[in-house]
Amino acid sequence: MTDRLLMCAPDYFEVAYVINPWMEGNVARGNSNAAMRQWNALARLIGKVAQVERVAAVPGVPDMVFTANAGLVLENRFVLSRFRHAERQGEEPHFAKWFADQGFEVLTLPPDMAFEGAGDALLDRQAPLLWLGHGHRSDAACAPLLANRLDMEIQPLKLVDQRFYHLDTCFCPLEGGYLLYYPVAFDIASQASIAARVPAEYRIPVADADAFDFACNAVNCGRNIFLNRASDALTGELRSRGFAVRQTPLTEFMKAGGSAKCLTLKLTEAQPLPVKAVA
Ligand code: ARG
Repeated sequence: MTDRLLMCAPDYFEVAYVINPWMEGNVARGNSNAAMRQWNALARLIGKVAQVERVAAVPGVPDMVFTANAGLVLENRFVLSRFRHAERQGEEPHFAKWFADQGFEVLTLPPDMAFEGAGDALLDRQAPLLWLGHGHRSDAACAPLLANRLDMEIQPLKLVDQRFYHLDTCFCPLEGGYLLYYPVAFDIASQASIAARVPAEYRIPVADADAFDFACNAVNCGRNIFLNRASDALTGELRSRGFAVRQTPLTEFMKAGGSAKCLTLKLTEAQPLPVKAVA
């Protein structure tokens, strides 16, 4: 099945406020032509291997380009985000409408609960498991609710570095059960949970420089990985596991704290089949 991904053009994108450390010092420092060029290049690259759907951009909500935060998709269900910051809450009705119009069943969480969608909730690509990042944006209290509504096991992971404020900035489950991640963005207990669930030979820890280049904020479609930048060492590691790495600069979006993965939301998320016990 061809993947479908949702993107939102940067028609109104700018750094207009500061809600994460990357945005500090970058308010009104963007180049909108460069942002449009970089976004188009990413959409074109992804469009070679997947179908890119678009939601119309809306004035006044500049971070709407980061569609990963719209919500969490699982089959025909969509759990709408409830943004922690008022600056992004205006995106919610637009995403809710788009998903309802497309025929998704739109689920919502209680009003006092913060949840930032596929920025913090990532499906494992092998096991029937949802990884949930918390500590900055999404509330840990979402875990039991999501487990219940989606009938799925959840592994919470505590994020401890403000610069890696969403799970998808430092953690990327890949096809075949591999995991690209930046270990020190997690507390010790979460690092242990990751190690307990993902065998060492499937873990691909990245070094500081790659983490700060948003290498973990990667879009994975089949054996293709799209990202802003990766070192030769990391590219080689991924290649040796059968992945083709496509780099495309997304520096304009990094000024707002986002990169390739944040700019996309996978719409074709099937519930992984439980791994059958061998008799
Ligand atoms: N400025 C946005 C924010 O702070 C960036 C969101 C990046 N998205 C992501 N999925 N990590 O909310």
